[in-house]
Amino acid sequence: MKIAVLPGDGIGKEIVAEAVKVLNALGLKFELESALVGGAAYEAHGHPLPESTLRLARQADAILFGAVGDWKYDQLDRSLRPEQAILGLRKSLGLFANFRPAICYEQLVGASSLKPELIAGLDILIIRELTGDIYFGQPRGRRQAADGPFPGAQEAFDTMRYSRPEIERIAHVAFQAARKRSKKLTSVDKANVLETSQFWKDVLTEIHAQYPDVQLQHMYVDNAAMQLVKAPKAFDVVVTGNMFGDILSDEAAMLTGSIGMLPSASLNGSQQGLYEPSHGSAPDIAGKGLANPLATILSAAMMLRYSLNQPAAAGRIEAAVQKVLAQGLRTPDIHSPGTTRVGTAQMGDAVVQALTT
Ligand code: NAD
Ligand code: IPM
Ligand code: MN
Repeated sequence: MKIAVLPGDGIGKEIVAEAVKVLNALGLKFELESALVGGAAYEAHGHPLPESTLRLARQADAILFGAVGDWKYDQLDRSLRPEQAILGLRKSLGLFANFRPAICYEQLVGASSLKPELIAGLDILIIRELTGDIYFGQPRGRRQAADGPFPGAQEAFDTMRYSRPEIERIAHVAFQAARKRSKKLTSVDKANVLETSQFWKDVLTEIHAQYPDVQLQHMYVDNAAMQLVKAPKAFDVVVTGNMFGDILSDEAAMLTGSIGMLPSASLNGSQQGLYEPSHGSAPDIAGKGLANPLATILSAAMMLRYSLNQPAAAGRIEAAVQKVLAQGLRTPDIHSPGTTRVGTAQMGDAVVQALTT
């Protein structure tokens, strides 16, 4: 079991260290190899995703990723910015299916910004298409406007596009995931305005014919954003495009108590996958030992389940996380009166302790 470990920038290094601690405590044989990625790789090699890092990722059974990015790179040419590393990995490895499960653990019901009754027992799965949409669509750039309200003015443009096979493959992933759960799938789009979204909706409806046992509902993204905070438990599996999925998954993260609780798996239809928390490098708290490592530790559990064929070990990690939460341990993002405030490393140590006792 070869795991490429890519901590990245900011809190990435701190949270991945804790996930590695937890993996090492399982008593399984892993081959872990680390490499620089993001701003850290740019500093050392002049590129956020050096060839050597990409090669390591390609050869691994699974990739454990932290986060990339820092405000100090905002003025760099886009191709050299840290975020290109994660975008490049997703694209190069064809990781088109991103699973972001938003589960509100019983112990954190009071930590969400929503009323407890709205989120108690919440367990929804956001499936985000990850290699298409306006994130990757060409052409994009800056130019002088040929038409529009200000001809001759400088303008910028991106292209939102989806091909039929890209939509079909994510649709199959979503229907199959829904089949294993409550058989309820919500497809989120903006078909009332966007042609890509109407196409998305049409293809989803066509593929639905192959999954008559699954109930399919279409919802516009603005309404979905509202419904997610009004009645989140009305959802089960949600499938959507790259950009809407990015935004809705951060929103869903807060239903679980903290952005520091939402893990993710990015899959390409083979056993190989990339596992990362849904949050970023949090430059505002980096280097202070304050970050919540649980999203990354839970991502490592997803890695054991989806890529490494170790479901029992994955279950042990998830149980250990629940145990430390039941002990009242909380990093500052979810600390509240009556709980014990701990730092990043103490949280990791507590999970290890809970695993082994
Ligand atoms: P962010 O997710 O890094 O942080 C948003 C807020 O959530 C901050 O207040 C931060 O302190 C807090 N937060 C995030 N993770 C936390 C954790 N584990 N524990 C406690 N608090 C946590 O988003 P941002 O501030 O918009 O972006 C910062 C940088 O991260 C940017 O450069 C952005 O591009 C990058 N980013 C990278 C990824 C990735 O690598 N996949 C994902 C999102 C953002
Ligand atoms: C995420 C992040 C990334 C995205 C950025 C850093 C490119 O926000 O993983 O959610 O937008 O996909
Ligand atoms: Mn995001």
